[in-house]
Amino acid sequence: MSSDNAKKMAAEAALEYVKPGSVVGVGTGSTVNFFIDALASMKHDIDGAVSSSEASTERLRQHGIAVFDLNGVPELELYVDGADEINRHRQMIKGGGGALTREKIVAAVAKTFICIADDSKQVTALGDFPLPVEVIPMARSYVARQIVKLGGDPVLRENFKTDNGNVILDIYNLNIGKPIELEEKLNQITGVVTNGLFAARSADIALISDGKTVTTLK
Ligand code: A5P
Repeated sequence: MSSDNAKKMAAEAALEYVKPGSVVGVGTGSTVNFFIDALASMKHDIDGAVSSSEASTERLRQHGIAVFDLNGVPELELYVDGADEINRHRQMIKGGGGALTREKIVAAVAKTFICIADDSKQVTALGDFPLPVEVIPMARSYVARQIVKLGGDPVLRENFKTDNGNVILDIYNLNIGKPIELEEKLNQITGVVTNGLFAARSADIALISDGKTVTTLK
């Protein structure tokens, strides 16, 4: 079974949580693309969406789904997004696509965060996937030195700028034994905008598919 099929099944399972008349928070990535395509079948039932990236905004608009500025949306019931890794506590590494900052903002606002993923994303311990950190460009070298002191190996993502005009350092070989502590520590480094650990605000529900069934973790 292809991982695309598993991504699609997880994405379509999230439709069940979409309330008519609501604005839906939409993440970024290949799994979310399946969700956006499925959401199009409900476009007349929902008010619209808020989006975590320019890429998702474009796809939503192509389907005729209105995309609102988050600042104009007083309440957001639901946010649906993928993950690069997810553990049994539904803590995640995200940002493989570089949209981590806007993703974290929308996740913070939403009452319910649903992670959709194929089962290859499930891990016992976070950290095999390099942890993305969005950094203000002039702070790149300083932040990299601080990350080395924390035991990680930062690598600049080449030829990449985030939607916010910043750079990404992907951190290899980090020990993520305590995800919430590490998330906080990285946020304390001056020049860091966001890091891709979603541990303090984990997903409320995870819909994980192996391409045959969808398992709900909550
Ligand atoms: C985007 O910045 C990421 O956080 C994605 O949510 C994550 O990388 C999952 O992407 P895929 O669904 O493409 O694997």
